Amino acid sequence: MTAQLNNEKKAAAMAAVKLIQDGQVVGLGTGTTAEFVIHEIALRGLRISGVPTSVRTARLAVTLGIPLADINSVEEIDITIDGADEFTPQLHLLKGGGGAFLREKIVAEKTRREVIIADSSKLVEQLGAFRLPIETIPFARGFVQRQLEKLGAACILREGFVTDEGNQVLDADFGLIADPAALAQELDHITGLVAHGLFIDLAAEVIMGKGEDVVHFTRPGY
Ligand code: 5RP
Repeated sequence: MTAQLNNEKKAAAMAAVKLIQDGQVVGLGTGTTAEFVIHEIALRGLRISGVPTSVRTARLAVTLGIPLADINSVEEIDITIDGADEFTPQLHLLKGGGGAFLREKIVAEKTRREVIIADSSKLVEQLGAFRLPIETIPFARGFVQRQLEKLGAACILREGFVTDEGNQVLDADFGLIADPAALAQELDHITGLVAHGLFIDLAAEVIMGKGEDVVHFTRPGY
């Protein structure tokens, strides 16, 4: 990754942290961009309860002294700040490069204000240049792969990787995805497929670093 993209990630993260208020329940994303946020929350001494989206994020938050809440004891998460692998101007997201997309999606669905932070390389007209991560229970892997192939995907098993839930990840190449909402619906119906990396109508806003600037995108109708 270039230093420029790293600076853009950091700038987006700094802008997003300003949205957090003391006393809030905050979803903590996973990945290199989200980690800037976690460090900044600690640096500012913000008094929040964090809901981590992965074991990796939980460990970092604990190391930095950020108190964590059990997601099952939380009615609603006020704000979540997370990264993405791709996003469109309509704020459809492709996530899961870091393999935490199942927990990230659950956290996003419990969140009032889902804020995505990204460098400028993540903005695309159509999702799909980045392979779509698919989480499958190990028992169903062959079955799930065949269903994905019937939908036109070429799949690669993420070798040596196991999710926080003990599942496997297939990285699926569908080519450019013309209708992400329709594909998400088809994937939602495959038995044994636990989660996919398409996040439809979940992001309220995206904050993207671009050169020296920060650009805000808001979901139409939000
Ligand atoms: C993890 C994710 C990440 O948000 C995504 O992979 C972006 O990562 P990074 O901020 O390191 O570019 O979805 O499951």
